[in-house]
Amino acid sequence: MSEKVVLTGIKPTGMPHLGNYVGALKPLIEQSKTQKTFMFIADLHALNTIHDAAQIKQHTYEIAALMVALGLDLNNAILFRQSDISEIYHLNTLLTNVTPKGLMNRAHSYKAAMDKNIAIGADVDAGINMGLYTYPILMTADILLYNSDIVPVGADQKQHVEFARDIAGYFNKIYGDTFKMPEPIIGTETGLIPGLDGRKMSKSYDNIIPLFAPEKDLKKKIMRIITDSKLPEDKKDPDESTIYQLYKHFATDAEIAEFAEMFRRGGMGYGTAKTILFEKINSVLAEPRAKYEYLMSNTAEIEAILADGAKRAGAVARETLGRVKKAMLG
Ligand code: TRP
Repeated sequence: MSEKVVLTGIKPTGMPHLGNYVGALKPLIEQSKTQKTFMFIADLHALNTIHDAAQIKQHTYEIAALMVALGLDLNNAILFRQSDISEIYHLNTLLTNVTPKGLMNRAHSYKAAMDKNIAIGADVDAGINMGLYTYPILMTADILLYNSDIVPVGADQKQHVEFARDIAGYFNKIYGDTFKMPEPIIGTETGLIPGLDGRKMSKSYDNIIPLFAPEKDLKKKIMRIITDSKLPEDKKDPDESTIYQLYKHFATDAEIAEFAEMFRRGGMGYGTAKTILFEKINSVLAEPRAKYEYLMSNTAEIEAILADGAKRAGAVARETLGRVKKAMLG
């Protein structure tokens, strides 16, 4: 096993979609078989947008159940809830003192929120809470608390990991070598998964297929994939088809080659192609979906997994915070 520590957080804001699965979750789960992985549900990061405890709790269970159902290796991976580790609040507070305000001003997410206000003629900071403004400090605390080497994130989070490096650097310069420099790893495939309309699968385009939709809903969604108007007998280019693009991520190499050939040969209508796609995705997801549903109706089991994760993560967190306090406070 590699000595490198992989860490990532997932915000509990709702059911991930197939694009998240293929681009981010599946590779993370693969990685968890060979690398020491910290995987947490970033409930504190959801607080700046979700002001409803029941909803955060429910979404937290969903993400935890989903990761376990998909086969996260709990021997190598420590799965925990961010807010369960009290050291995170301490480190967050301590790091504010070495974080330049100007760095926060440059955060893409904060700037985007300000731009929206400017566009509608509102006060620049209207509706922006400090949770949003200091979001990158909390994320830095996550990354540094667990001595992370590698942080796999989506492209939208790259700047945050760079901020973590900046802040670690400022800290080390003042107090001596205390933190490792984390490396962001940007999911390359995420952008390539098409949604129902052929554009990138994204909540903001309303074109997603939820990962664990009930079978009936999964089928309905897949049947709604937009296609061109070619007739069944027409020859088709698989690379131009959303159906084939999705199929590729769930089938074996031999199945993929055969499906591509069926497109090229002509004689397969889009209805048939969608049915083949549905059956493939459904067969891959049926077992994890059943496990997910089981866990969601037995949340005490999820709590037990998270409690075990908190114990293991807490031990690392205590050690790091001890070092930081000693460096800053003597
Ligand atoms: N901000 C990340 C997101 O919105 C979630 C997150 C929180 C995270 N803390 C993290 C990701 C630490 C990686 C490392 O997706």
